Amino acid sequence: MSGPNTQFDPKQVAALDGQAIEDMVQQAIDAIAGATSLSELKEVRLAHAGDRAPLALANREIGALAPAAKAEAGKRVGFARSRIKEALDARQDVLERERDIKVLLDEAVDVTVPVPGLPVGGRHPLTTLMERICDVFVAMGYDVAEGPEVEAEWINFDALNVPPDHPARTMQDTFYVEGSDSGIVLRTQTSPIQIRAMLEHPLPIYVVAPGRVFRTDELDATHTPVFHQVEGLAVDRNLTMADLKGTLDHFAAEMFGQGIVTRLRPSYFPFTEPSAELDVQCFVCRGDSVGNPDRPCRTCGSEGWIEWGGCGMVNPRVLAAVGIDSSQYRGFAFGMGIERTLMFRNGVTDMRDMVEGDLRFTAAFGLES
Ligand code: DAH
Repeated sequence: MSGPNTQFDPKQVAALDGQAIEDMVQQAIDAIAGATSLSELKEVRLAHAGDRAPLALANREIGALAPAAKAEAGKRVGFARSRIKEALDARQDVLERERDIKVLLDEAVDVTVPVPGLPVGGRHPLTTLMERICDVFVAMGYDVAEGPEVEAEWINFDALNVPPDHPARTMQDTFYVEGSDSGIVLRTQTSPIQIRAMLEHPLPIYVVAPGRVFRTDELDATHTPVFHQVEGLAVDRNLTMADLKGTLDHFAAEMFGQGIVTRLRPSYFPFTEPSAELDVQCFVCRGDSVGNPDRPCRTCGSEGWIEWGGCGMVNPRVLAAVGIDSSQYRGFAFGMGIERTLMFRNGVTDMRDMVEGDLRFTAAFGLES
């Protein structure tokens, strides 16, 4: 069908007929208009402007025409091809623009959408509670004092008037750092910070001292070998047990709610004289459950009071050990466990939850600052 053929009658080359070419152009233009994507348009381009498109095939027939007819047929085919090319280019522009708009819409990022926050962890409730306790005392003019966790046995026991044969000193209760005659212990209480404060601070002294303490207890629901206490110490002229009681009542109200008071029961500690066991009024029933079987209280076991710690007036022998004249100055002191405080304040029933470090426990207390 292609190639020069002198025998060929040009009139019979139907492909080059004006109407035929017009039809090809129209078909191409219809196909171009019907292409709804760049890939469809690519196929249309191949079909109507490619090497095997009807017009390309018709073009090959020109060679078979008589010389006089070649120019006109060539013009016709050339014009037809350029119309198709124009239509293709125009459609290409339109489709590219549509694609660009679609990409912009599809890939649009709404920078105002809130992102899911990274987990930030949580502060341990014991840390938060210790800071709150310090805040209560700082507001009353106290300083926050600290001491080492590895402590001299003399400061942890002797200076606090604990006799050499006191059972608390045995290795069943106390961690000795290098054997029981090393004179170095992991502090068993925060009370040695009292001694350090009295040795270091000028008088008068008002300090609060939270810290970690160690005892050779097994970990169970109510014991842990590493726990926390807070110690309070005031040394001034003319302090009495009434000052101690007033301070503790204020502390209790700040911890457990306005109106909550404390109760002192006679007791014994080597470093205080007189000494007292310190109870706090039950902040749930406020004593209403006592002798009232209709209204039992789980927090205090219907006792009305909860054991909170120990306290007393600083023993003059302790003042003497640190060189304070007990005829001029008197002191009061108190100490309580932070874990225990958290347990009844926040209804934690198992101490192991506090030491296991499970974020779900910590996070439940929120991010209180
Ligand atoms: N250190 C005592 C303990 O661990 C608690 C204590 C009792 C502290 C009486 C005091 C106090 O400051 O005066 O059991």
